[in-house]
Amino acid sequence: MNKRETNVPEKDLALQREYMSRMLEINERQLSETGRRPLAAVRTYGCQQNEADSQLIRGMAAEMGWDFTDNSFEADLIVLNTCAIREHAEHRILGNVGALVHSKRRNPRQLIAMCGCMVQQPKMTEHVKNSVRHVDLVFGTHALYRFPELLFKAHTRRTRVFDIEDSDGMISEGLPVRRDSNIRAWLSVMYGCNNYCSYCIVPYVRGRERSRSYVEIMKEARELVSSGIKDITLLGQNVNSYGNDLDDGRDFASLLSDIAALPGDFLVRFMTSHPKDATKRLFDAMAASPRVARQIHLPVQSGSDRILAEMNRGYTAESYMKLIEYARGVMPDIAITSDIIVGFPGETESDFVATLDLLRAVEYDAIFNFIYSKREGTPAASMPDDVDRVEKVARFDRMLTLQQKIGLARHQTQIGTVQRVLVDGLGRETDFPLSARTNGGRLVHMRGPAELVGAYADAKITSASAWALFGEYIAK
Ligand code: SAH
Ligand code: SF4
Ligand code: F3S
Repeated sequence: MNKRETNVPEKDLALQREYMSRMLEINERQLSETGRRPLAAVRTYGCQQNEADSQLIRGMAAEMGWDFTDNSFEADLIVLNTCAIREHAEHRILGNVGALVHSKRRNPRQLIAMCGCMVQQPKMTEHVKNSVRHVDLVFGTHALYRFPELLFKAHTRRTRVFDIEDSDGMISEGLPVRRDSNIRAWLSVMYGCNNYCSYCIVPYVRGRERSRSYVEIMKEARELVSSGIKDITLLGQNVNSYGNDLDDGRDFASLLSDIAALPGDFLVRFMTSHPKDATKRLFDAMAASPRVARQIHLPVQSGSDRILAEMNRGYTAESYMKLIEYARGVMPDIAITSDIIVGFPGETESDFVATLDLLRAVEYDAIFNFIYSKREGTPAASMPDDVDRVEKVARFDRMLTLQQKIGLARHQTQIGTVQRVLVDGLGRETDFPLSARTNGGRLVHMRGPAELVGAYADAKITSASAWALFGEYIAK
């Protein structure tokens, strides 16, 4: 497939730049009349993809003359970048948007926008249209690059604007980005997902898989490294599919190796890898470069082969364990994390116990476990689900207790070691003022001077909890 068919045409992007400058004129006028720039608040729900999208929304808003605030009462524009992954996320977002009726009442000219995965679902957009009438602008994931035009229309016409394009999704290069850290950065390498795991809404709201061009990714990676970024996370719902839709013969392993070969003092990591597509070639590429972080997020979802098949995951517990063994064979110090769904429709006690057994066998550094949430329109939504909520919560708690023990034991093996960590800010622990991360991504609460923020430093690990390490700065 030819790349150009996947990218938003240049003339459409030029039109958006035109709207950006028209909006900027309006905001500059406000600045000269009132002495203050209009303020925007951008709230993000959901995963790293949404975080990365919010950095583009902020980038476009900054280009249009907005400054930023966290306070909804002083904001002239509020953008909620939404998530649809579980019902709980949607309820929380609807609750939060409902509460904005108060700030809007105080400031009737306030513009409220919703974008992202949740409003890419036609039913949800209808709901907002009919029942959340203080929302002025709604645009789905595929219309992100049209934010300037949509905002201009909502702003100047004062009518409600809805843009939920039902397409497969395109790639828009060259949008302005406003990053929130000069230490770490996301770098999207692909968008969308073709996997259709039976429980998951993502393929429906993010569209088909599409890879960014190698040239664009390398250009952005070079810029990040030369701007002093120390830690890059390559993003995609399933990074191992990178390149499947390109005709240049590149795959994720070769992209990763090329980024890791750039000159500079940085680490590169990535998420998420689907176990069915994680290859020995990928682990070999990781092991071959000291600039690739010794960390992999490899979501297993369940340890029961029957449930894995129902989930349409395309691997078994045994083939998954083989991958883990291979990864640890070539990188003994690799940190491994996972996502797990508890209470998938029809999950029996023995299915659940198989997952606990897998947890014990793998010994993850950390897991993110979720109670299954029914998503309308996915195959699992019509599977009979006879496990009651109380039982699901009990299983969730049992899993957490087990992982707590495993996580603590893994962390305790680190005590006494000296590790090179990246200090990324000031933390909340008064005795350990710095917050840092190891190469494998483990959180370290650290004693040391504030000047270390933004730098690599050696830390001696002195104690550990199930969730974090504690350490002391060792001067060279
Ligand atoms: N693309 C990534 C993850 C995307 S969503 C991957 O394949 O691993 C992040 C996690 O949310 C998933 O790994 C899964 O554990 C969880 N999740 C997705 N849909 C869910 C649902 N309907 N109910 C509960 N958890 C879900
Ligand atoms: Fe969802 Fe599966 Fe795609 Fe991950 S791989 S986004 S869980 S459909
Ligand atoms: Fe949520 Fe969309 Fe990410 S549904 S988890 S924000 S891809």
